[in-house]
Amino acid sequence: MSDPTLLILPGDGIGPEVMAEVRKVIEWTGANGGPRFDVQEDLAGGCAYDAHGTPLTDGTMARALAADAVLLGAVGGPRYDALDFSLKPERALLRLRKEMDLFANLRPAQCFDALKDFSSLKPELVSGLDMMIVRELTSGVYFGEPRGVTGEGDGRVGINTHRYAAPEIARVARAAFDLARRRQGRVCSMEKSNVMEAGILWREVVEEVHRDGYEDVELSHMLADAGGMQIVRAPKQFDVILTDNLFGDMLSDVAAMLTGSLGMLPSASLGAPRENDRPRALYEPVHGSAPDIAGQGKANPIACILSFAMALRYSFDAGEAATRIERAVEAVLADGVRTGDLMQAEGGRPATTAQMGDAIVGKLSGTA
Ligand code: NAI
Ligand code: MG
Repeated sequence: MSDPTLLILPGDGIGPEVMAEVRKVIEWTGANGGPRFDVQEDLAGGCAYDAHGTPLTDGTMARALAADAVLLGAVGGPRYDALDFSLKPERALLRLRKEMDLFANLRPAQCFDALKDFSSLKPELVSGLDMMIVRELTSGVYFGEPRGVTGEGDGRVGINTHRYAAPEIARVARAAFDLARRRQGRVCSMEKSNVMEAGILWREVVEEVHRDGYEDVELSHMLADAGGMQIVRAPKQFDVILTDNLFGDMLSDVAAMLTGSLGMLPSASLGAPRENDRPRALYEPVHGSAPDIAGQGKANPIACILSFAMALRYSFDAGEAATRIERAVEAVLADGVRTGDLMQAEGGRPATTAQMGDAIVGKLSGTA
């Protein structure tokens, strides 16, 4: 059988810089018992606009649809701010998400012990934290019709529609339950069923899916506002949080800040399983192209490296290889290796992007 394909889209700004470090980890993994990949690379975002006049060509889109997984760096930058909306680099991401039908967005909030003083919460609240937010990504109030602004003057009305169809809720609920089975086996579903009909349906469908083959997973419900309070009050009570597009957008950003820098945060967006059982999947760091530090060797490559680890776990059933990478990251941080964004954490030694990547590969090899 041929090696699975991994399509790499480094993108703009710090994207290519952090991706260069991920490539070192990909090579190490392939040479040391982890999966080997047919690695392909293409343009997406501003760089694609520069080369082809469009942020994502049809050819690149076709390669993404055919790939076993896509790993993206970041897109965008001030050079492209004046472009028409349809040509903006960010459109590349929107097109990938839409055409790959990526309905489940996975955002882990995991605390590395060496950085626990770095959190906005007390160290004891976040030490050992390992939770995952599963956000519905393709429906809800950001997409519902009717929408728009109508009327004039004081008569103007802004409208968005929070709409969910039962199958949209069911498929993301299944993704959350499947995920919980690989973790601590608990899902907490969050909506506002006290004031929103779409929330009543959300709760109903999540319970149906649970009864229909997932009763081994522990299911609880929380109103999303109370859930927000609990995430900052006692985050370690959670394993998997399942929520809709709007609440997930906010709650995942709140949860992200429990663990410190944007430079540390990976993500995955998954679609439906295909014939080979692998879901369509896009892995990317949460951060953007960071034009303020691009080209200076200052970017933290960990978010992108951990995104590759997520790809190993969720697309290629290589959880062991993923854990090895996560342990190497933990060990390097414990040694005090710090890119600029982490320098406020105690006991740090400054490192460039490449030094951080090399230190992680060094740990993987057991030589550092
Ligand atoms: P950003 O995430 O690029 O940067 C925010 C701040 O965090 C900056 O000070 C940056 O230096 C820092 N930062 C981000 N990643 C870092 C890393 N790996 N290591 C160290 N420091 C890091 O967000 P911003 O500035 O709002 O957006 C910049 C551009 O990126 C815009 O064009 C925006 O549209 C685009 N963007 C792209 C995203 C994507 O490709 N998924 C997501 C967010 C923004
Ligand atoms: Mg957000």
